[in-house]
Amino acid sequence: MSPIKLQGGGRLRGKIRVPGDKSISHRALIFNGLSSGTATVEGLLGSEDVASTAACLRALGVKIDGSTVEGCGGQFRRPSTNLDCGNSGTTFRLLLGLLAGQSFDATCIGDASLSKRPMARVIRPLTAMGASFVSEREYPPISIQGGSIKNGSVESTVASAQVKTAVMLAALQGTGELLFREPALSRDHTERMLRAMGVDFEDEVAMDGTHTIRMMGPQSLEAVDFVIPGDISSAAFFMVAGLIAPGSEIHIENVGINPSRAGVLEVLKAMGGSIEEVRPRTVGGEPVADLVVRSSALSAVDISGDLVPRLIDEIPVLAVAMAHARGRSTVRQASELRVKESDRIQTTLQILDQLGVDTVEVADGFDVIGQGGTPLKPLRIDAENDHRIAMSALVAAIAVPGQSTVEGAEAIATSFPTFYSSLEGLRG
Ligand code: S3P
Repeated sequence: MSPIKLQGGGRLRGKIRVPGDKSISHRALIFNGLSSGTATVEGLLGSEDVASTAACLRALGVKIDGSTVEGCGGQFRRPSTNLDCGNSGTTFRLLLGLLAGQSFDATCIGDASLSKRPMARVIRPLTAMGASFVSEREYPPISIQGGSIKNGSVESTVASAQVKTAVMLAALQGTGELLFREPALSRDHTERMLRAMGVDFEDEVAMDGTHTIRMMGPQSLEAVDFVIPGDISSAAFFMVAGLIAPGSEIHIENVGINPSRAGVLEVLKAMGGSIEEVRPRTVGGEPVADLVVRSSALSAVDISGDLVPRLIDEIPVLAVAMAHARGRSTVRQASELRVKESDRIQTTLQILDQLGVDTVEVADGFDVIGQGGTPLKPLRIDAENDHRIAMSALVAAIAVPGQSTVEGAEAIATSFPTFYSSLEGLRG
């Protein structure tokens, strides 16, 4: 794909609907695939990452036909080829947990970027539960040696919904009690969905923020129809675009505002952003609202601690908002950014550097010296095949007069294939 050349400046106006939530889409397919029954999934995200999950499940014997998923009743078929997870870390990590308790061996592979992402965080707790894996230094490709899982007490050193979900998927097929602990509550779509599918477990967040789950295995899942809300991580690009492009008003319909994901909303409002939540409702067991975003003068913000897992994917585009804000913003305790689809501390700061904004990089985050209304420069950047970096760069570009160039934007197809046309459609 040739680079996107975008002439920035001007206001953004209109109504958009963001595609289905990526995290929930993966889970709706995987959990119904494990169940014994047939369910329909409405509003599934049509993107490369979710297509990778569907293809792996089909290779394991799950029937997926349009929006219908026919589960395998807990017994998958031994795949005849490697399971190709493409660029999708969620697919890879969830499959490690899903297959650890099956009776066959299978190998998960990924693209060049996924092959550089650490899997030790999933391999270690699963190994403690009796799973066994073969890999080179715990990076993809990884072979899962099927066997039996004995639950027990496992701890994750990172607040990661991928780790939590992989552990729970294994524990559902294991025996005995699982006691799982993560340092802070990561996104809780798995807990909501498993409860809806009849799984019995307890979980609580302690005063110090630690999140604990207790669950007995084995348990089976009832197939459940799901309606998937719009992805707040995709909506975040339009929130920031609407706030920073002068004279803008954007209505974003059907956005999931689950508190374990809605850190971006809280932070943008705390920065002085005008974002109104209208028609609050529940869709598929998840809180949803429409959002009305109006351009606003923004002020600096500090992000750290328990807030980080609640907005980890939105930090690159939040940094673009920080660039436009008045004052010095800080991001700390966010070293997870270094092991996403790119080193997102570095790639985010490249965007800001191109905009002519001063930043300071630290090991676990960065500072942004906001320009508070002073015009920023058009940018020329390679998104390094990271979808969220490409979309953040395009949001930055649309708000500065002049021509910007973004290379590597084809990666956007992993999560939001229609992003660029939606953004262009708001001009005028
Ligand atoms: C996801 C969890 C998060 C997030 C990723 C999707 C999920 O990753 O960054 O985009 O669907 O479980 P971690 O679990 O590594 O924090």
